[in-house]
Amino acid sequence: MAKAHRKSSAKISPKKHKLNESQIAVHWKEEESYRPPAKFIGQANLNDPSLVELFSEKNFPECFNHYAELLTWDRYWHTTLDTQDPPFWKWFVGGKLNACFNCVDRHLAKNKNKAALVFVPEPEGESPIVITYQELFKRVNEVAAMLRDFAGLKTGDRVTIHMPMIPELPITMLACARLGVVHSVVFGGFSGEACGLRAADSGSRILIYTDGYHRNGKWVDHKASADIAVSAAKKEGQEIDKVLIWKRYPGRYTSDTPMIMERDFFIDDVLKEYRGQFVEPVSMDSEAPLFLMYTSGTTGKPKGCQHRTGGYLAYVTGTAKYYQDIHPEDVYWCMADIGWITGHSYIVYGPLALAATSVIYEGVPQFPDAGRVWRIAERLDVNIFHTSPTAIRMLRKAGPDEPRKYNYRFKHMTTVGEPIEPEVWKWYYEVVGKGEAVIVDTWWQTETGGFLCTTKPALDAMKPGSAGPGALGIYPIIWDEEGKEVKAGSGSAGNICIRNPWPGIMQTIWGDPHRFAAQYYKKYNKHPHSKDWHDWPYYAADGAVLPADGYYRILGRVDDVINVAGHRLGTKEVESACLTVSEVAEAAVVPAVDEVKGRVPVVYISLKPGVLPKKAILEKVTATIETMIGKIARPKMIHIVPDMPKTRSGKIMRRVLAAISNRMDTGDITTLANPDIVEQIRQLVQGRSVGPLQEGPADIKLFGDER
Ligand code: WTA
Repeated sequence: MAKAHRKSSAKISPKKHKLNESQIAVHWKEEESYRPPAKFIGQANLNDPSLVELFSEKNFPECFNHYAELLTWDRYWHTTLDTQDPPFWKWFVGGKLNACFNCVDRHLAKNKNKAALVFVPEPEGESPIVITYQELFKRVNEVAAMLRDFAGLKTGDRVTIHMPMIPELPITMLACARLGVVHSVVFGGFSGEACGLRAADSGSRILIYTDGYHRNGKWVDHKASADIAVSAAKKEGQEIDKVLIWKRYPGRYTSDTPMIMERDFFIDDVLKEYRGQFVEPVSMDSEAPLFLMYTSGTTGKPKGCQHRTGGYLAYVTGTAKYYQDIHPEDVYWCMADIGWITGHSYIVYGPLALAATSVIYEGVPQFPDAGRVWRIAERLDVNIFHTSPTAIRMLRKAGPDEPRKYNYRFKHMTTVGEPIEPEVWKWYYEVVGKGEAVIVDTWWQTETGGFLCTTKPALDAMKPGSAGPGALGIYPIIWDEEGKEVKAGSGSAGNICIRNPWPGIMQTIWGDPHRFAAQYYKKYNKHPHSKDWHDWPYYAADGAVLPADGYYRILGRVDDVINVAGHRLGTKEVESACLTVSEVAEAAVVPAVDEVKGRVPVVYISLKPGVLPKKAILEKVTATIETMIGKIARPKMIHIVPDMPKTRSGKIMRRVLAAISNRMDTGDITTLANPDIVEQIRQLVQGRSVGPLQEGPADIKLFGDER
């Protein structure tokens, strides 16, 4: 396969921006397009151009009624979009519905014996477990009864769920939705402390856990982090009344961590009281919050993105139907974790609202070998597959010929979470998809609920490395820092924004509406008192370029967020963790290019006066980051430097450090208070014999590493 040429065609002035993800993104030459296969087009949900016409701007916002009509409502809405309180949009106002009813009950008439969830345990010797819609209905009702009567949860209460990829996770989420209880799922890989902080922020009195799970051939004792979460929440002033614990193997407790009397309860024991119970789904206001999803932003504290019931469910159902092409007879497998937004929207709510069969895999893709994913696909006859560029890069590296050995057939494949390199896209298309499957490269965010840019799988050509045009009813635009439009074909990069509201957008940041308005709407708002949505474009904090063909190519974050293996990590969160280490005076975290994970965090620290650089400090910093955030934030490298490059006003110049870590030009450093430090750091990081600047991760040594 020919390697794509790289050229830096997109420019963002280093004077106006820090060196960020967007700027260190690899830029590719223009790629050839691929047409969707005729066989796919014939059966596709979206193969009628008149539907595209329906979503044109002249029909906004009523075009989105089409998505809402895919749902079953208890009461029809009277107003599609209410813009009275910008940017706090209201969707399908006056409507009432229940999300759990839409994902479960309404399928019983036609599909009760159909598989809703297929759980694939990581140990290959354990058979997949199938949960039909009838069984899902029973189990969700029992759990809802328990949450209401045993845990005392009421409509509007929040509950924090810290669980791995097992079917009890969506069951618990749906049980919450049935009661109108707002769930806040924390990714299983986050630490107990990270979970506790999120529980405290949301005001959760109940935590839901699992005793343990399989991951990469090892048993993870997850209950241990529940105890840490409870004390972390308490430190923030939030008491946890009960911790409810699912057992990975019902009837068998598999954690070494003791249960705390009166606080910890095994769900399988308690559920015995609720066997066979039915709970009437609570008819929720369309605008009632459905869930919170905490994500990293530009401050040290993660923010709780609050998603609404009606608009969110309509948006994920519509986009899952038209962009993922889900029909009830499909077997759909999204390899994301339910603890991220992709899992919420496109493992649980979207697919189940469409009566799909949604596969849940407990483990890591390459366990026990690089063929595992393809064996699962073959055995379950998966025909719609959804994963991230990091997973694709990993699988390609571990076994480039493995997919050919297995007899599965995908009609459709998704990529999400980070930019995909054209050569990786082509391997996905030719080897994984066997040249028969369409690919959609879907660009979106935790905040946006569902897809923002993607091709229409049966109608648009695919272009490796580009997400594509705005999704139905989404009107993107690129502006420069001064608010001037960066026109298609100009060759320059800018900030991608969405000009209009859409039903999947979050309602607010939990407990912080000012931050919501400031972070996403202030930048390009010219009339703060206007009630016209045209004045309130959504600022996504991603850099993008738009060639003449109208296919947006996303370059990456322009803020303090690093996209590590498709997962968002706030540099400020990592820096705050470093600063809790007593020897550390200053910390700066920057993204470095990584062959598999896209980006990895590199940490620079300076030490307090009199502290000598030692290996033990590096270990302490790593351990602190893992405890406060989780293993996903583990730095690739920690550099102890004598001082940070700083502006005259004392601001750390992270762009200079990022340039050094990526062996790129540091740009203009004459305005620094201490320009000499740059060369010192470069020599420490890159070694004394500095060769020509090059792309890609540097083979660097640690300063002060006394190993
Ligand atoms: C990045 C994940 C390029 C982007 C759904 C965004 C992408 C951040 C793509 C959101 C894509 C997501 N191409 N970049 N197809 N999809 N991103 O909130 O930088 O975890 O801002 O949501 O991931 O990450 P989040």
